[in-house]
Amino acid sequence: MEVGAQFGDEGKGKIFDFLSADAKYVVRTGGGPNAGHTIHLPQGVVVLHQLSCGVLRRGVVGVSGPGMVVQPFSIEEEIRELERRGLLQGEVAISDRAHVLLPVHEIEDAWQDDLRARRNPEGALGTTRRGIGPAYSDRAARWGIRIADLDRPAVLRENLELMYAAKSHLANLPPIDELASRLAEVGGRLAPYVRSIEPILWDALARGERVLLEGAQSALLDLDFGTYPFVTSSHPTSAGALVGSGLPPTEVDSVLGIAKAYATRVGGGPFPTEETGEAGEFLRRVGGERGATTGRARRCGWLDLVLLRYAARLNGLTALAITKVDVLGGLEEVPVCTQYEMPDASTVRDVLPTHADDLARARPVYERLPGWPEFHARLRERLRREGASALPATLRRFLDRIVEETGVPVELVGYGPARDETLRLPPPVTRRTGAGLSAWSG
Ligand code: IMP
Repeated sequence: MEVGAQFGDEGKGKIFDFLSADAKYVVRTGGGPNAGHTIHLPQGVVVLHQLSCGVLRRGVVGVSGPGMVVQPFSIEEEIRELERRGLLQGEVAISDRAHVLLPVHEIEDAWQDDLRARRNPEGALGTTRRGIGPAYSDRAARWGIRIADLDRPAVLRENLELMYAAKSHLANLPPIDELASRLAEVGGRLAPYVRSIEPILWDALARGERVLLEGAQSALLDLDFGTYPFVTSSHPTSAGALVGSGLPPTEVDSVLGIAKAYATRVGGGPFPTEETGEAGEFLRRVGGERGATTGRARRCGWLDLVLLRYAARLNGLTALAITKVDVLGGLEEVPVCTQYEMPDASTVRDVLPTHADDLARARPVYERLPGWPEFHARLRERLRREGASALPATLRRFLDRIVEETGVPVELVGYGPARDETLRLPPPVTRRTGAGLSAWSG
């Protein structure tokens, strides 16, 4: 399985797409239209919000899984758009157990974040306003509507009425009758894609087929283990990917964490290595750091190894993919944060302070590594032809430091947006000496 190891936007789409070439099923396990997985195909750029990137590969089934909250009208548009562009090469499957995200949830999401902002501008979460939190809240309240309910008019009606009764404080909700009939109609159009996913995946694994779990969002946005309350409302960790797919832990053979060579965050919340000046502007400009879903400029900063170690332990990472190393090319030195100094003079290396306020007061301590050359056309060409042996020595050292500091081997390196700008590093001859954090020795 593959999970984000920072605050989201690690370039997961490109890595999922790269790995889906060897898979039979690729399953999105959580979240909804808040995600935006960008994939650069030879035919053009695709941003997938609710579909799994498996749908782009011939012979692969791209599953929108049970742990998701699916906006039925926009997922239908996403399918049609890919069809129009001739890019729907694989098969689309939507879990019958996924919950339905309604226009009502989008209105409620905006209402909630505006309420927070009015009380305290610093407290606004800056959600994507796609209705994620309210949709998961209704799931937990047990009057949520599931994809399987779209052809059950009585359940649909009853649950809509319960939801509306609980949301009487919201203005401009669409009339129930109109919403119920639109939902029944879209349900009919989506029916050919709807499947009971879990038995399909169990049978596929029993036949020895490869299933890839595609985690949207990222560890630090996890509802319980992220920077609460500045988090999303799902569980974008390896444990969450299992709950969101119906697969048991005994089926997992690897957990790949995806991290950028630097760090970004969209929305509110603590971000210890954030650079608000020139360095941040450089990363934003060269890295093209703008949200794929909301178009918001991303906050930018340096790689935070404290948070990466935490993500490694939380997810049980067995390997890392480090993306966008080309963005840092040409810098004289590359800072990486190895620990925090806290206001009480204590140091933090691999845990996340429970209170977001405490994390906001952490002072990052940096190690400055020598930079590597710019990724000009000749270097890219050599990397394509010769693979990892063409990596500049200083970049190799940067990657080695990540391995030393996290205890997790780097398996993939992304150095550009295209499908073929991904390097597979040879597996290290290593022995794991402790729970995710100890050094690897040769
Ligand atoms: P929500 O998921 O829309 O409720 O947003 C909660 C927080 O998670 C906000 O700070 C969002 O910016 C952030 N977030 C949600 N989805 C993504 C994503 O796919 N990439 C990066 N940040 C995200």
